Amino acid sequence: MSAPDLPPKPQARADRVSLWRYLRLFRQDILSAQPARLYRAWMAEFRTPFFRSYLVNQPALIDEVLKARPMDFPKSDRVGEGLRPLLGASVFLTNGAEWQRQRRIIDPAFEGGRLRDTFPAMWAAGEAAVARMAPGLREVEADMSHAAADVIFRTLFSIPIEDQIATEVFHQFRAYQRTQPILNAAAFLPLPKWMPRGHRAETRATARAIRALITRLTAARMDQIAQGTAPDDLATKIMTTRDPETGACFSTEEMVDQVAIFFLAGHETSASALGWALYLLARDPEWQDRLAEEAEAALAQGPDFAVMGKLRLARDVFREALRLYPPVPMMVRETTAPECFRDRALPKGSQIVISPWHLHRHERLWDNPDGFDPGRWTTENGKTCLREAFIPFSTGTRVCTGAGFAMVEGPLLLAMLVRKWRFAAVPERVPVPVAYLTVRAKDGIWLEVRRR
Ligand code: HEM
Repeated sequence: MSAPDLPPKPQARADRVSLWRYLRLFRQDILSAQPARLYRAWMAEFRTPFFRSYLVNQPALIDEVLKARPMDFPKSDRVGEGLRPLLGASVFLTNGAEWQRQRRIIDPAFEGGRLRDTFPAMWAAGEAAVARMAPGLREVEADMSHAAADVIFRTLFSIPIEDQIATEVFHQFRAYQRTQPILNAAAFLPLPKWMPRGHRAETRATARAIRALITRLTAARMDQIAQGTAPDDLATKIMTTRDPETGACFSTEEMVDQVAIFFLAGHETSASALGWALYLLARDPEWQDRLAEEAEAALAQGPDFAVMGKLRLARDVFREALRLYPPVPMMVRETTAPECFRDRALPKGSQIVISPWHLHRHERLWDNPDGFDPGRWTTENGKTCLREAFIPFSTGTRVCTGAGFAMVEGPLLLAMLVRKWRFAAVPERVPVPVAYLTVRAKDGIWLEVRRR
């Protein structure tokens, strides 16, 4: 574990270990399976008997892969393997023309103006989260999952998490995640295609149950749209947007795939970031008090989108949580032709791993890379790194569709919670970060909660 004054960082492994030991470490946790040199390297190569993978950790190279030539580095089919029973052909898993078509229909729903429209629903979810909080020792990761799921249901389908279908979807997703992590050894160390694998029966059954529930919501919405009675929310917007090139809308089946990913990508990630943000504030009462003061002044005027312009500290704290504990710690792409990176020849079919986790703590880029310092974003180093070395939402054309959404949701919920409640870290319960579906604390995040 890290020095006592620094927020927790997983212990790195020894520099050289056997492949089998590496695989074993991987099964425990992808973060502690990596050597410490990745926090200083620009690029690293991992060779196995089956394939090669390259961790790319230099801003210019990351730009090349994600921004300059994204179509040359598609997502590998293997990455989403564990998620396919649930997500079907959702935008998270597709590539090429199919992916482009889906983004043409989805992107307009997340544009700036639409964010303003979803604000009252986010605010209502924030008020509900504040009301559910209670004094005492609490595991706040679960609280934040609940809150982020509520945000998604309210903004997407205009229903709160207490709705019966919403509650059921939420519980089924939890069961799914326990059986199928998003980032498993297969993502980073893909097995050769001929090796047999398959989804566990339990995973498939849970995926079917979730899809049945989402189908009910989506089919009901199709009817409301046909009758002209649909609420003006994200689901209606996406389901009525025509592809500007073909004029076609999503079918119900296609929409089910997309709703599944919005729910999954949209609530797990935000919940992870909010949980860590609360923890970081809990171990830094000074920043917490400053944020509470800002929140009190900004939020008193009620649910007005303009408050976002006043929640500067909340934004900086949330950014710092995304930097230190990026919910999606690593992303994987594949080369479609031979490439040359840093004078090294990469064969076609190599895995390219981009690691926000390592980039965000890179010792040659960041001042005080492992420290919690929301003030860094106003320094020269912080501003440069924000542009060049901060990619919690990825970057380029395949950037997270919900990035703008999450940057409203996160700071807003944080400010609403800290305005009413005081959080304190519990010395004997230091959370250990591990990469499950997203970066989570091994045994949850336990905080002492009091009324402010
Ligand atoms: C703090 C919150 C969030 C974080 C850190 C985050 C992070 C990411 C990252 C890193 C990716 C790229 C993954 C890759 O390329 O392998 C991604 C993709 C995506 N995210 Fe988010 N996300 C967040 C919230 C959301 C929300 C709120 C939504 C929707 C409501 C959302 C929807 C998506 C979708 C649909 C994709 C796939 C985009 C594509 O492949 O074209 N995310 N997210």
